[in-house]
Amino acid sequence: MNLAGKKILLGVSGGIAVYKSCELLRLLQKKGAEVRVCMTDAATEFVAPLTFASLSKCPVYLKNGAVEARPFQHIDFPRWADLYLVVPATANVIGKFACGIADDPVSLCFMSCTCPRVIAPAMNVAMYNSPAVKRNLEILRGFENTTVLESPAGELACGEVGQGRLMEPAEIAKYLETRDEKPALSLSKGRETKGEKVQCEPPAISVAVDIPPTQDASLPGFGKKVLLTAGRTEEAIDPVRYISNRSSGKTAVALASVFYANGFEVEVVAGPMEAEFPKGVRVTKIRSARDMHDAVLERMKNASVLVHCAAVADYRPKVAATEKIKDSRSQLILELEPNPNILRDSVAQKRDDQVIVGFALETDHFEEHAAEKLAKSGADALLLNAPVATDSGFGRDCVRFALVETGKPVPQLAMGEKVDLAETILNFCLERLNG
Ligand SMILES: Cc1cc2nc3c(=O)[nH]c(=O)nc-3n(C[C@H](O)[C@H](O)[C@H](O)COP(=O)(O)O)c2cc1C
Repeated sequence: MNLAGKKILLGVSGGIAVYKSCELLRLLQKKGAEVRVCMTDAATEFVAPLTFASLSKCPVYLKNGAVEARPFQHIDFPRWADLYLVVPATANVIGKFACGIADDPVSLCFMSCTCPRVIAPAMNVAMYNSPAVKRNLEILRGFENTTVLESPAGELACGEVGQGRLMEPAEIAKYLETRDEKPALSLSKGRETKGEKVQCEPPAISVAVDIPPTQDASLPGFGKKVLLTAGRTEEAIDPVRYISNRSSGKTAVALASVFYANGFEVEVVAGPMEAEFPKGVRVTKIRSARDMHDAVLERMKNASVLVHCAAVADYRPKVAATEKIKDSRSQLILELEPNPNILRDSVAQKRDDQVIVGFALETDHFEEHAAEKLAKSGADALLLNAPVATDSGFGRDCVRFALVETGKPVPQLAMGEKVDLAETILNFCLERLNG
């Protein structure tokens, strides 16, 4: 959707992220959109309506506003709009939207608008994961012309870590720009169509289907969980460019399949990748190294085994531009800063009954580098692998690898299929788990 000339109604409800909707308003205006605002009473406690009125250059629709002068704001505001955007959407208004309650400007506009509606939830992780919010979001996803944006995981304003952050304003704007134009709701027929489930670009976090693991108690992994990282990470330079690598995710898929077949419950934190996981594997999608870091640390408590298979970017741009960097034909210098070390930080939280395996991709001095990395990381073992040969490594089924264990000499690299690599790791982990 080209935002130039678009009329956007911004519904603001009362969460800590209200200040970010001021930033979003400015961004939308910069892209040429005209923005008007309606607010719940709770929202006005976080940011004064005067701020939104000043930025939008239009009176804000409030519950206790000048009703006599403008009695039909609950109809006029949404009818004016090409798009209704609720940012942030609290658990409370989400519940109202889902249940048909319309007793404040934001929920009234939701009910009476006929244009497409986009909702960006933001709340504490426990609220986000509560059965009521999950159910209400699912109901909204089923509404015609209604889009629920993902809430990324990460550090929340309350200090806790988990899913429930507001999608960044730049990403919301980018999503709006890339979404297809949707027709307005049909008022006359009240058609039932399936709601749109957004795969926003870049996606924040989305949790895939949760299928119970095998119930076969004779399998060696029965009752145990493995947490895998998979794929590559992408580190934003600007809204359309990033730093990444060539990992395809095939090794992680081999690992997931082998562990699952041996009775383990398999959970994966996956960056972008081409290979697909088998059914029964629980996948949480992330994009950046920092998101992967947070997602892994949050999930590792219940895992018996952690295998860090993802190709994580060691560095990220110090500043990610919110607008596309223009071509000025002059030299561009990107300043990079280190990403958190996921392997090291997970080892720091490791319990004695957990096994952690890292990955080391080397292109030279294999044994030396792997031994050094293993010692530094404190992991139980490192899977040393080499991508240099033309018939092995990234995107291929074969790989040269060796499992380097603490206190043992580094074995020679040997060519094998990725499934062999996965079985080598599985056998090592089972040996360790069984004492
Ligand atoms: C400091 C503070 C921060 C809050 N942040 C959130 C939040 O991020 N998301 C949320 O759903 N509720 C949050 N709440 C709770 C809502 O403000 C509360 O449910 C309120 O009734 C929402 O009203 P509204 O949905 O009409 O705006 C917060 C409350 C306080 C006091």
